[in-house]
Amino acid sequence: MIKPFEFLLPTKIIFGRGELKSLKEELKEKNPKKIMVVTDPNLRNLEVFKKLLEQLENFDYVVFDEIEPNPKDYNVEKGAKCAVDEKVDLIIAFGGGSPIDATKVISLIAAQGGSVKEYMQKKIEIEKALPFIAIPTTAGTGSEVTFSSVITDTEEKFKYTIKSPLIAADVAIIDPELTLSLPKSITATTGMDALTHAIEGYTALCTEPIAESVGLTAVSYITKHLEEAVENGDNIEARENVMMGSLLAGLSFSHSDVAAVHCMAEALGSIYDSPHGTCNSVLLPYVMEYNLPETTDKYASIAREMGIEGEDNLEVANKGIEKIKKLSKSIGLPDFKSLNINPDDFEKLSEMSEKNGSTPSNPRAINKEQYLEIFKKAYKE
Ligand SMILES: [Fe+2]
Repeated sequence: MIKPFEFLLPTKIIFGRGELKSLKEELKEKNPKKIMVVTDPNLRNLEVFKKLLEQLENFDYVVFDEIEPNPKDYNVEKGAKCAVDEKVDLIIAFGGGSPIDATKVISLIAAQGGSVKEYMQKKIEIEKALPFIAIPTTAGTGSEVTFSSVITDTEEKFKYTIKSPLIAADVAIIDPELTLSLPKSITATTGMDALTHAIEGYTALCTEPIAESVGLTAVSYITKHLEEAVENGDNIEARENVMMGSLLAGLSFSHSDVAAVHCMAEALGSIYDSPHGTCNSVLLPYVMEYNLPETTDKYASIAREMGIEGEDNLEVANKGIEKIKKLSKSIGLPDFKSLNINPDDFEKLSEMSEKNGSTPSNPRAINKEQYLEIFKKAYKE
């Protein structure tokens, strides 16, 4: 039986090389009085940011460039204050997942008031947010089409997810040309984040047929083109395909969920501030090994999307997991040990992983003891 489900997509998607130019038209239509551009301090100095500003020539705008990686509660509070003080009525999020995730909650607080903590603890119901346009400059997070925002509570050192279709972007302008100048390491880490979204979105317990279809197709786009995009960053064909994979993976997990890999990666990110995609990449194959008894057929389908052939699903699935390990290595991502995580923290990290709201979505039941075993295994190999 196909379980009943709803599929909602409040975001208009504009995809294509050079489509940044469509921003002007979108803005003319929305006719904002004042725009706030939310980004990070590094991006502000890059050529790609000048391209964005060219589009804003005839508009009144302010730039808020204080978003850190693994965006923090205080980044969001400060951004929301800036939006209110400047009487902003539209936000453009420009950058990777951090500025886009942060903008979702900035636009919420600017429109509705309250604090980040109150939304994290679900003390206030989400009712409205300022309109925002998401323009990703990396191919990985899928945040431009998801309804969720992951923000670090710096007091608790815990990453909370704030989720509602009301905080999704109104428009996502996805222009692969914006990723041409990304360094190899960011291409690699964000690409593996996208692959993890695709695999978890496809296999999460709450998935449905549309999320499954786009998730599985995303695996194909990403795994066939990621190595080339890392190796030859100016290959627009490869960039475009990885970006499409990232978009589809975002659509998949936002209508399904992420699962154990993200629960563990978010725990690592909360304590160590390690790059999100790299945390996913070091843990993904080990979680897959754990999940394999419950997901053999789906993992075999994933492996077949990666070009692996064979009759026996278990054998094909195992080869797929090995290929994912090799892929991380070949694109230069480190192993778990190189992240300088203290094994004494595994206990605490396992507890945090169990507490994550996506733990019940994992295709095989998992608790803190099993998380601990996976942390240990990933660290040993
Ligand atoms: Fe992610």
